[in-house]
Amino acid sequence: MDRRRLLQSTLALGGSALLRGIAAALRAASVDAAAAGGTTADRAGADGATGTAGAAAVEGDDRFPPDFLWGAATSAYQVEGAWQEDGRGESIWDRFAHTTGRIRNDDNGNVACDSYHRYGEDVALLRQLHLTSYRYSIAWPRIQPSGRGAANARGLDYYQRLTDALLQAGIRPLVTLYHWDLPQALEDAGGWPQRDTAERFADYVALIARALGDRVTAWCLFNEPAAFTSLGYWRGLHAPGHTDARAFLRATHVVNLAQGRAYQVLRASRPRAQIGSAFDVSPTFPASASYADLAAAERWHRFQNLWFVYPALRGHYPEGVLPPEQQPELLGWRAGDEKVMRALLDFIGLNYYSASLVSDAPEGNGVPGLNTRVQWARAPGSNARTDIGWDSYPAGLHDIVLRMADETGRLPIEITENGAACNIGPGPQGEIHDAPRIAYLQGHLRELARAIGAGAPVRAYHCWSLLDNFEWAQGYSQRFGLVYVNFADRQQRSVKDSGHWYAAVAAANQVL
Ligand code: FCB
Repeated sequence: MDRRRLLQSTLALGGSALLRGIAAALRAASVDAAAAGGTTADRAGADGATGTAGAAAVEGDDRFPPDFLWGAATSAYQVEGAWQEDGRGESIWDRFAHTTGRIRNDDNGNVACDSYHRYGEDVALLRQLHLTSYRYSIAWPRIQPSGRGAANARGLDYYQRLTDALLQAGIRPLVTLYHWDLPQALEDAGGWPQRDTAERFADYVALIARALGDRVTAWCLFNEPAAFTSLGYWRGLHAPGHTDARAFLRATHVVNLAQGRAYQVLRASRPRAQIGSAFDVSPTFPASASYADLAAAERWHRFQNLWFVYPALRGHYPEGVLPPEQQPELLGWRAGDEKVMRALLDFIGLNYYSASLVSDAPEGNGVPGLNTRVQWARAPGSNARTDIGWDSYPAGLHDIVLRMADETGRLPIEITENGAACNIGPGPQGEIHDAPRIAYLQGHLRELARAIGAGAPVRAYHCWSLLDNFEWAQGYSQRFGLVYVNFADRQQRSVKDSGHWYAAVAAANQVL
């Protein structure tokens, strides 16, 4: 594409902001093309184009701020088990995992790590690892088995006991209100593409705020809204397993409405709460230096990284993604939605695993106007892969933290997930030498320290995950835990080398 046509198409896509984004991508691309990944200093320079220039990076200083929180994360369906206990209803993940052929080895979360019964051990492990924050989620179907109506007291009781145990251990609870386990009854009524689901979510959040808001002060409204809407409604790889791009787009809008409604309900009930969401972010790189690919990488950045952030903070969607004249119909937009989806978040949660390589796809990809082909978890110049097949790209954490700080007006940031699949099991004495996980965490924490040195307001880091657990479509085949779980023998837990190493980092407040 020549420059004139590029200019025309970029103006059509959203004008000068897009050009600024492309300029940033161009610099990043030339750095990477020149140096197969570039140097630390080159990357800091590339980030300067997004508005973070001038902040002093403290090279080589791997200490963290004095009150930094060190944590680990899990989610309800992935660790709890007890799928039919104490009045819990069916979730879309129960239904999906019980359908033959959906999950590797036909695994399911019926028992998982059995944390529903062993949460006391989990809290003791967090304490042993010197951790000061635990991110866990509430299973909506334990609270409202059919997705509506009064709260199930036995479900609430479990989360009160878990939360109290954490507080007693001096660990801050960080509660995710939705980590993908929608009550099946709500999916039967239309699921996330159906507007009423936003109201149902707000009702559920009101019940939780009342029951737990006296002791939980930090909340994530959603986990990875981009991932669960796209994998669940567009790609069909996660529950509920649909492959309908239009339903997916509507789901994104309903989730944005739900984010706003839940925020308002929680804020009204608990005015001093710290309210955020955990966004799945990935720095985007053009697959080639062509202008078409540069523009595509910028479009994908806006879709992947900003689609659930701008509605909350600014009351509108990022420009240059969907064709403006089709957008209202594609999203099911109604007058006033710009107010409903506002959520003046207190902090931004970032889940980071890897970068994305993006090419232009003029033939389309199902989402009108998006026209991208994305290689997820591929990074320029990287040849390090974790066991799940995702590239390890530590510099991407630095880059995306600075870019999101810039995009969000420098709201406080918590890293709500980051970690690696490393499937090394116990040696003869039961010890677990998972050196690749230590290398992964070390690399990423160094890059995080560098981002903080450059002025990023990061206040917490949560490793995914405390425990080996049910890794969605991959079942139990991928182990992300700092702690090994023996699924064949009573879910016994053993701290891995990486767990001991991470405990020392947390105690020292410094990368070792
Ligand atoms: C994230 C999910 C989390 C876990 C990790 C590996 O996308 O939020 O539940 O599965 O990936």
